[in-house]
Amino acid sequence: MPLQRSLSEISDLDELKNNLDDCGRCSLSGSRTNLVFGNGDPNASLMFVGEAPGFHEDQKGEPFVGAAGKLLDQLLKQILGLNRSNVYIANVLKCRPPENRDPKPEEISACKPFMLRQIEIVDPLIVVTLGNFSTRLLLDRTVFISKIHGEPIIINNRRVFPVYHPAAALYATKTKELLIEDFKKLGDLLIEADRDIEREQNSKENKGEEQLDLF
Ligand code: URA
Repeated sequence: MPLQRSLSEISDLDELKNNLDDCGRCSLSGSRTNLVFGNGDPNASLMFVGEAPGFHEDQKGEPFVGAAGKLLDQLLKQILGLNRSNVYIANVLKCRPPENRDPKPEEISACKPFMLRQIEIVDPLIVVTLGNFSTRLLLDRTVFISKIHGEPIIINNRRVFPVYHPAAALYATKTKELLIEDFKKLGDLLIEADRDIEREQNSKENKGEEQLDLF
């Protein structure tokens, strides 16, 4: 499906979604029930990027509505005091891989420009990458979540915070503990990011006042 406008001209999530609605850029279009674009607050400070829709997500057309999503909800609520409606959630792939197999490189490449534009449009302070696939996509290199989780990395002027995928924590106590620790760090990182923005705004306002004083 050719785009009506180039991706960089699209500044609205609904328009981006409309351009994907009948997507046939990879073979997953043949097996999907619903495309899972993403949802939440379009102006969120926190954006989560998972791997790909599973069975329940494919059925409902919404990200993280199965068991991993329930854990994500709990972490959001209990550690950060947030609800789904306060954050934005999307996936690297917008369509479910059969039997929940790993995404293939050609599927990731087909979805990548849309995923990156989705992040630019939401423009969050922090992108939390859930697991290896989204972390590799944003860092643009092969990394292992076990090695780099819980430390923020600045990519294109934005904080990227890799954590374990909640699905990996469902049946592994140690992984769940690490995920909980990382969510606590995320709370601190969010406060720090908010303060930076406030400082930047104050300094812009002060500069504006100084300019006015010149006249
Ligand atoms: N796992 C993901 O990576 N994404 C979902 O939406 C659900 C499970």
